[in-house]
Amino acid sequence: MRLTGKIATVIVAGLAVIAMTSMASAKDKKVDGRTLFREHCKVCHGPDSPNGEYTPMTLIQDQWEDFFDNNYVNTHKDVVDAKHGNKKVTDVITPEMLKKIKKFAVDHAADSEHPMTCG
Ligand code: HEC
Repeated sequence: MRLTGKIATVIVAGLAVIAMTSMASAKDKKVDGRTLFREHCKVCHGPDSPNGEYTPMTLIQDQWEDFFDNNYVNTHKDVVDAKHGNKKVTDVITPEMLKKIKKFAVDHAADSEHPMTCG
């Protein structure tokens, strides 16, 4: 009986580790450019937004390149994101995240092969 209890404990602990690991990798996979755009851009640039509605196909590829390279920091460094702890947009979005968002926007711009909204 005691041995059974120990084995059960080991099995439960093992399952917990497996569950945690698979959850972590599912989360990593989910964080693609599209998800990031939806969570970090669409929150302020949805339909009827006073800041203007922006989805990838709002602009053409050159305009997105120009925006991310020359405009993004200037237009967002003083904008506070209430959805993400009231931090500045440029502090919430890491360079890694921004790279993915930019790629998603450029890949699905109005003049790309696959124009897209972010859903
Ligand atoms: C917390 C709100 C917020 C978030 C998050 C946000 N923006 Fe903005 N965005 C603004 C505001 C405010 C402006 C300025 C509007 C203005 O000046 O009229 C702006 C302006 C813009 C402009 C126009 C810039 C220009 O030169 O006129 C674009 C394009 C844009 N945002 C895209 C994005 C993208 C892409 C993301 C995600 C990486 C993003 N925004 C995230 C609030 C936000």
